[in-house]
Amino acid sequence: MALICMRAKSPRLANAARHGAPICFGFVLLSLTLVAPFASAQAIQLSVDASMTGARIDRNLFGQFAEHLGHGIYEGIWVGRDSSIPNTRGIRKDVVDALKAIRVPNVRWPGGCFADEYHWRNGIGPQRAVTLNPNWGGVIEPNTFGTHEFMDFIAQIEAEAYVSLNVGSGTPREAADWLEYLTAAQPTNLAKERAANGHAAPYKVPYLGIGNESWDCGGNMTPEYYLSQFKIYSRFVRNYNPAQQEHDKMLRIAVGPGGGEVRWTDWTETIMKGYQQHTWSWDMDGLSMHNYTVMNWQDKFKSEGFGETEYAQFLKETLKMDDLIAKHSAIMDKYDPEKKVALVVDEWGSWYAPLPGSNPGFLLQQNSLRDAVLAALNLNIFARHADRVRMANIAQMINVLQAMILTDKEKMVLTPTYYVFKMYLPFQDSTFVPVTFDAGKYTHGDVTLPRVDAIAAKGADGKLWIEVTNVDPNQAVEVQVNVAGVSAKGAVGETLTAPKVDSVNTFDAPKTVVTKAFSAKASGGKLTLKLEPKSVTVVAVE
Ligand code: AHR
Repeated sequence: MALICMRAKSPRLANAARHGAPICFGFVLLSLTLVAPFASAQAIQLSVDASMTGARIDRNLFGQFAEHLGHGIYEGIWVGRDSSIPNTRGIRKDVVDALKAIRVPNVRWPGGCFADEYHWRNGIGPQRAVTLNPNWGGVIEPNTFGTHEFMDFIAQIEAEAYVSLNVGSGTPREAADWLEYLTAAQPTNLAKERAANGHAAPYKVPYLGIGNESWDCGGNMTPEYYLSQFKIYSRFVRNYNPAQQEHDKMLRIAVGPGGGEVRWTDWTETIMKGYQQHTWSWDMDGLSMHNYTVMNWQDKFKSEGFGETEYAQFLKETLKMDDLIAKHSAIMDKYDPEKKVALVVDEWGSWYAPLPGSNPGFLLQQNSLRDAVLAALNLNIFARHADRVRMANIAQMINVLQAMILTDKEKMVLTPTYYVFKMYLPFQDSTFVPVTFDAGKYTHGDVTLPRVDAIAAKGADGKLWIEVTNVDPNQAVEVQVNVAGVSAKGAVGETLTAPKVDSVNTFDAPKTVVTKAFSAKASGGKLTLKLEPKSVTVVAVE
């Protein structure tokens, strides 16, 4: 038995959802054997009622993470003003254009583990300090990409800033000064210094991360110690931007769990209990959670050149995201039943072995069709938990881990994951609509997975959008969609698949995994979606 759950916002569901109890639709996983593609006997029935709406799917769920790590920033974003690679004030144009097209809502920067050793003064002004990056390969950190360059970059891609503070090796004073430098409108010394460095107007900082993985690379703190640090930073690190006082107030995000074991549940308990007892002088708006999909930290899976066994095992692993969110959400519900504090999954994605020949500290990996399916499955999990999960940041944006973009000098290629983020654009700031379906089963060796996954939402454009992932790499699937609440004449959208589970886009063959147009017919209000094996499909009901 599998369950699809939601928290109701619609009056029709409100009664059942009293006291925050989720509404669940049960379905039995059936074993199906297809004899021919799209044979109607094996069709999956999916029901969606557009009048039953749930939580808002915040566009911030599609956030990105850019750390000073490997070629994520240097070469990936920053090539310098004198580069022969086309750039705007040192920021490469091809990357900006690609990121604008997926409407990145926010970018988390400068780390990661890097953040807890970052001293912002090294990255401003005409003379930059040359330091080291001990976390990631021990390479030189030139600090040529600093505060102003980051703010310029996010302005160019039309995203918002999610700034991570140094709690591990910094001080509240250093962090408070940084925020004053960034946001003060009055002519303080720091605001004048910012103006002298080229930006008279205060910057907007909507999201502030107070530390990173403070239980580990961020300082090996106990939850109690971290909580007391958080209170100090929450109190003294102020945003002075006049435009962020009444509206658009800066949200403070605390370090949260990194897994489901006892030490992480203890962490969430301690921080949330502290939040419940918070006074007027400090506050918390989000609790971060990090969860990578990795099979074995000592001997990681390869990102390319793998087969169906690794495909199935890796996707099974990624589905654990759902339980992890449920577990920490339940703790948060105890101390924050009104869900004021968002769960912010600000590091997620696949983590494989570094590509042969690359610096192991640079976390460079390929990105295959498997990653596209993985991205869709995780985005769907976030959407189903959208009442609590209101922000997420895939790790990381360029050239690191599950990237959107890979670059090599002047060359750039868009990854399969990039295309999923593009396909999901209609889900940004949409309203969740529950779907019920019999997922079926896909079995390979000792791994059994739901054969399909699906979500639906009312888009900001008023249309009903449906996403269906066919996890099965061998069998096409026909999904018959019973649509209520709107009259369905057909559906149009895009689908993403590729010849093999490990198909990738390369600089020489950049179009192996790309979207293509998709359409479906309706009859009697019922849509028939014919999905290719191992595919991600997004359609608007017409
Ligand atoms: O994303 C790479 C690293 O993974 C981050 O720096 C850290 O926060 C996490 O452990």
